[in-house]
Amino acid sequence: MFEKLQAPPPDKILSLISAYAEDGRAGKIDLGVGVYRDETGATPVLASVREAERRLLAAQTTKSYLGMGGDPTFCRVIVPLVFGADAPAERIRALQTPGGSGALSILMGFAARLTSRIHIPEPSWGNHAAIARHVGLEIVRYPYFDAATGRVDFPAMKAALERAEPGDLVLLHGCCHNPTGADLTRGEWSELAGVLAERKLLALVDIAYQGFGDGLEEDAWAVRHLAGLLPEMLVASSCSKNFGIYRDRTGAAFVLGRSPEEAAIAEAQLMAEARTGYSMPPDHGAAVVRIILEDADLTARWRNEVETMRRRIADLRRGLAEAFRRRTNSGAYDFLTENRGMFSLIGVTPEEALRLRQEFGVYLVDDGRINIAGLKEDQIDAFVEAVVTVKG
Ligand SMILES: Cc1ncc(COP(=O)(O)O)c(C=O)c1O
Repeated sequence: MFEKLQAPPPDKILSLISAYAEDGRAGKIDLGVGVYRDETGATPVLASVREAERRLLAAQTTKSYLGMGGDPTFCRVIVPLVFGADAPAERIRALQTPGGSGALSILMGFAARLTSRIHIPEPSWGNHAAIARHVGLEIVRYPYFDAATGRVDFPAMKAALERAEPGDLVLLHGCCHNPTGADLTRGEWSELAGVLAERKLLALVDIAYQGFGDGLEEDAWAVRHLAGLLPEMLVASSCSKNFGIYRDRTGAAFVLGRSPEEAAIAEAQLMAEARTGYSMPPDHGAAVVRIILEDADLTARWRNEVETMRRRIADLRRGLAEAFRRRTNSGAYDFLTENRGMFSLIGVTPEEALRLRQEFGVYLVDDGRINIAGLKEDQIDAFVEAVVTVKG
């Protein structure tokens, strides 16, 4: 039977990883993969995570099953991290999931029982459309990004969502948009909340980079603002980046219901969705997050470590924009300092991206997405020179 199968197209980012590894040039630059890197190019285990792991190993007495929703204490402490101390907690239910991807998967699967269509920004993280397709949702793209300015095209986005049908699902990036780095302003989020409420649209907010933009609290502002205004909402959060536990697969799926009773029923439906997908989430990463968030000192240490990562990204953004300014004598790349999180679109065609790779050893995704955290300070000028050269 397997002879009927065709190989799927190779994953672009994974191919990039192996091509980079095989490149023998000393000055090669890896801006492809979506993981944080420190100034030495490493993606380290955070000290707060190491300490939580030490405590976990010392105290763990069983590895028996937990429920489909994972660790109940993780599910309790993750709510204020995302929704804030003043969250309408009685209307929110959280499920521990295998990463943000697991959260998106069960939330979209759940939503597909209620609605048939999802609106996804153009562009967006590739897995959004892939998961939506997998659960049978019809995908409608809404305009999001103005490549000429490097900023959100909010009027076009708003106009498109004003045409959406009541009950449609709308995917939103809570902060640090992937791949553009362009986020809505607070004023725009407020306007958008009005559209969502008026058109009776169901928001699905994906927040995978909380803490990498303006700060842990600041980055959750949009989620919290919408939660204060909308009767119902879905949120997918990831601990992969801000806790640096990518491979431990830790995230959360949240449902905000109109009442505690409706939220509880929705939660039971999400559990059923989890049961048929992966049954229950892996424990280790969530136990680490739980230990950190339950301990004031460890939480403070972790917050400091997130702040260090955030500052490095912000400094690199500033340094990069300044280097472009010097080299091009223009503010054409100033949007880099306005973008948030690890990603920005640098505005190269797939052919130019190929030239960057072949001639300069600069590895980035074909759509021109760069992971700012992949840069080392002493590579900034070489990177700018390469981009300016291929763009003629
Ligand atoms: C926008 C966005 N959402 C969700 C995720 C999911 O991350 P994970 O499943 O590793 O937690 C990612 C990861 O790259 C992402 O970029």
